[in-house]
Amino acid sequence: MPGTAIVGLQWGDEAKGKIVDLLTEQNDIVVRYQGGANAGHTVVMEGKKFKLSLIPSGIFRSHVQSVIAGGVVLNPASILQEIDGLKEQGVEIGGNLMISDRAHTIFPWHFIEDGILDGLGGGEAIGTTQRGIGPCYRDKVGRSLAIRLGDFYKPDFKDRISHIVAAKNRSFTGLGIDIEPLDDRAIHEEYAGYGERLRSYVADTTNYLLDAVDADRRILFEGAQGSLLDIDHGTFPYVTSSNSSAVGISGGSGVPSHFLKKIIGIAKAYTTRVGGGPCPTELENDIGQKIRDRGNEYGTVTKRPRRCGWFDAVAVRYSARLGGVDALSIMLLDVLSGFDELQICTAYEIDGRKIEYFPSQAEELRKAMPIYETLGGWKEEIADVRNFTDLPENAKRYVKRIAEIVGRPVEIVSVGPDRVQTMFV
Ligand code: GDP
Ligand code: IMO
Ligand code: MG
Repeated sequence: MPGTAIVGLQWGDEAKGKIVDLLTEQNDIVVRYQGGANAGHTVVMEGKKFKLSLIPSGIFRSHVQSVIAGGVVLNPASILQEIDGLKEQGVEIGGNLMISDRAHTIFPWHFIEDGILDGLGGGEAIGTTQRGIGPCYRDKVGRSLAIRLGDFYKPDFKDRISHIVAAKNRSFTGLGIDIEPLDDRAIHEEYAGYGERLRSYVADTTNYLLDAVDADRRILFEGAQGSLLDIDHGTFPYVTSSNSSAVGISGGSGVPSHFLKKIIGIAKAYTTRVGGGPCPTELENDIGQKIRDRGNEYGTVTKRPRRCGWFDAVAVRYSARLGGVDALSIMLLDVLSGFDELQICTAYEIDGRKIEYFPSQAEELRKAMPIYETLGGWKEEIADVRNFTDLPENAKRYVKRIAEIVGRPVEIVSVGPDRVQTMFV
């Protein structure tokens, strides 16, 4: 099984980190290929909790190579902080971490722009994580004001920063933004320091991964965000700025798509979303609050309460088809204990018409009224169940029904954050 991928099928936070950590054991290399420090992936082992943002969730097995590929946007200060924090927690980080010299880097102006731009769109704000992600990807595509990690080690690095800072200061003045002008010298000094500290990790990861492909090494790809936040295929403009569905794997890593032999789609047993944008099954009532409380649904990165609702099978069926997903991993099933009934959204009603596909326009999705199928709930807590067959009948029925409607088999069921709270079906 050379290439395996883990992708979120909803709006992020599906518990991808947990599954990547588990599957790392069967792989040689784990790759993050898009997104940046907007991601917050949690891994729990023996009661100890680790939060990862840029570093692949494979880092806990030191014999496995962790790679941050060129499609990621890198905040140098943030990754150094993450490395230090993990080392303090006893995690070994050295030659087992590699960062692409192609990765575009986030600078102070990107944070300022993230704050301004989200308010300029008119209508509902995207509600970004304010980590400079969108502005950095914008400069990457625009090319002329971009800096990649490899540029940190070139003789013109300082001049490049001065050139960009002058342009950004002019643009802030033009936009009438009242801020202290950016200081190119101070920024260069700060970032040159980060460059020195990161130097030993920086490599041509594309070449490394292509060699690994030739050598038939096992590579696990770790998606960040979720398919419905994909810049091209998600609920635009309420999305992130990268291809966060499975379509981004090849572009972000450089590994040809036919190398991928298995794509596992990760979905919560219900729906959550952070930030703005439509979410048809959202429950702004006691049920939504109960899910939030039981699932501890507060953002890993921004601590914002996550919007919660019933499982949206229309959305997940779309993501699973879009991603060429082979199997599903259903997460946080334990959160649904204690409900008399559970609902699964099987279609939408939009302007009086029943629709079974996921609309391309956010305005359409905003009008969608979920059409639900009702299933029986279960009372028992299931966090200690370790075999699928030992789950309450209604819990098994619920998981099987998701598989039927989405049209993909469920291979993994998770009933708690810890590594051991996982069943392979
Ligand atoms: P990611 O961004 O997709 O990696 O997901 P996050 O880490 O942001 O959010 C998932 C949260 O659910 C984390 O706090 C996990 O520790 C937790 N979690 C993972 N699996 C389960 C599960 O099966 N049950 C419960 N109750 N929590 C889980
Ligand atoms: P993980 O990898 C959930 C959301 C933000 C916002 C939108 C755009 O932990 O699943 P951005 O800062 O990327 O420009 O914000 O995307 N978002 C996430 N939501 N999980 C994430 O990552 C997210 N990363 C971004 O809340 O709505
Ligand atoms: Mg997360």
